[in-house]
Amino acid sequence: MMRKEERLIERLRRYSASDFYPFHMPGHKRNPAIGSEYRNPFEIDITEIQGFDNLHHPEGILKDSMEWAASVYGADRTYYLVNGSSCGILAAICGTTGCGGTILMARNCHKAAYNGVFLNHLQARYVYPQVIENLGIQGGILPEDVDKILRENGDIEAVLIVSPTYDGIVSDVAGIAEAAHRYGKPLIVDEAHGAHFPFGRDFPVSALELGADVVIQSVHKTLPCFTQTALLHIKGDLVSVKEIERYLRVFQSSSPSYVFMAGIENCIYHMDREGREEMGKFYRSLSNLRSELKGMEHLKLVDDRWIGKYGVYDLDPSKIVISVGKTDLTGADLDRILREQYHLELEMCCADHVVAITSLGDRTEGLKRLVGALLTIDRELKDREENADLESSLEWSGRVTSRPEVEMTIFDGIRAEKEAVAIENSVGRIAGEFVYIYPPGIPIVAPGEMLLPSLVHTIWEYQEMGLSVQGLEDPSGRTIQVIKRL
Ligand SMILES: Cc1ncc(COP(=O)(O)O)c(C=O)c1O
Repeated sequence: MMRKEERLIERLRRYSASDFYPFHMPGHKRNPAIGSEYRNPFEIDITEIQGFDNLHHPEGILKDSMEWAASVYGADRTYYLVNGSSCGILAAICGTTGCGGTILMARNCHKAAYNGVFLNHLQARYVYPQVIENLGIQGGILPEDVDKILRENGDIEAVLIVSPTYDGIVSDVAGIAEAAHRYGKPLIVDEAHGAHFPFGRDFPVSALELGADVVIQSVHKTLPCFTQTALLHIKGDLVSVKEIERYLRVFQSSSPSYVFMAGIENCIYHMDREGREEMGKFYRSLSNLRSELKGMEHLKLVDDRWIGKYGVYDLDPSKIVISVGKTDLTGADLDRILREQYHLELEMCCADHVVAITSLGDRTEGLKRLVGALLTIDRELKDREENADLESSLEWSGRVTSRPEVEMTIFDGIRAEKEAVAIENSVGRIAGEFVYIYPPGIPIVAPGEMLLPSLVHTIWEYQEMGLSVQGLEDPSGRTIQVIKRL
């Protein structure tokens, strides 16, 4: 049958030719000056034929390439990932814990981490990030919190944190690594948003240099590379290379794309040769952009004044995080205005803020458009009524500080017999499915957790704001799967 609607490729081409500018991943930003070597990707798209090695049993050109990449990063081993950081996170979790074991993980981890917990039937103990007052944004993870949980729970096998977060918040990775190592446990860092760190002197230090045992980075998010490309690095001997490799073979395609693998190598090659200088220039343009945005009166740019507070050890300057907390707008409103009136597409909007991803693939024209739009919007805004400030901080504080009560493991929660109930009637029931807004993909509630009034309110509120609430089986979003009462 003929395809009646516009075909995907046609829509992509039309969009690409439009004046919409990307403040989202991938990091190449569809910049026409980048990627001339991939004009016809079929030219280099092969399978594991003679002379081209095999990602799952590398002995030739891929082995050499990954060893060279490890030397660039200062890792003991580096693996090319063609299924995103997601598959690296799954392999790191399953490769460092036993089936039915226990992991200590930051509650603000991406859903891939929760999927790993599910697959290995793990018990998850959570360490909660701090919350930046007045912004409704999660801060960093404190080493002393990690230490305390490890002291009290001898059964924990590995520690997993996310740093930087989607909002660019970097935790004290060195302190957390020290805490984990004090108990002989490996630290896995989801550095999906920090693949550019190792190449920028003015950017935060990568977890690889700070004592982490396994570090996973999405090359595609902040560097010029294809979507789905990522890296897993191992350093030290606290983790079993054999086990992690076993799971990489499980979670990666048995037909890894040579276009992606060549793209990863090419990207690292470029970053190693010219990228450091480009990162310097990129940092200078970010500094200009940030100083212009400091002039906003109502919208607030999240900047380095938060470093040293709320567990914020450092901040990635390339994440432009704008808080709407002082205004009558929601994050979804600001996101929509930027899209509809200015043709600027952002990476993410939450209830109280929006996030624009910038990278060295950005063009001056794009950055100027973002600054111009934000300054214009800001001039037309006014602050909320007096007192409303207080209300708003109470609202967000419920949204970001609610701590679900874990009643059973994620695996048991998913596998249990379930029924659908209206979201407003679900208080006190145990969730049978994940609920999250995507992005960032951090669960508001995970299977096996009690639906507290604050969590149910949060889900309802996010839906009212028009945020992309996902995970619910019910496409109308009106009901949630809960565990049947016996
Ligand atoms: C913090 C974090 N970790 C991991 C992932 C998964 O990365 P990928 O899309 O490369 O699979 C994401 C995706 O957005 C993320 O935000």
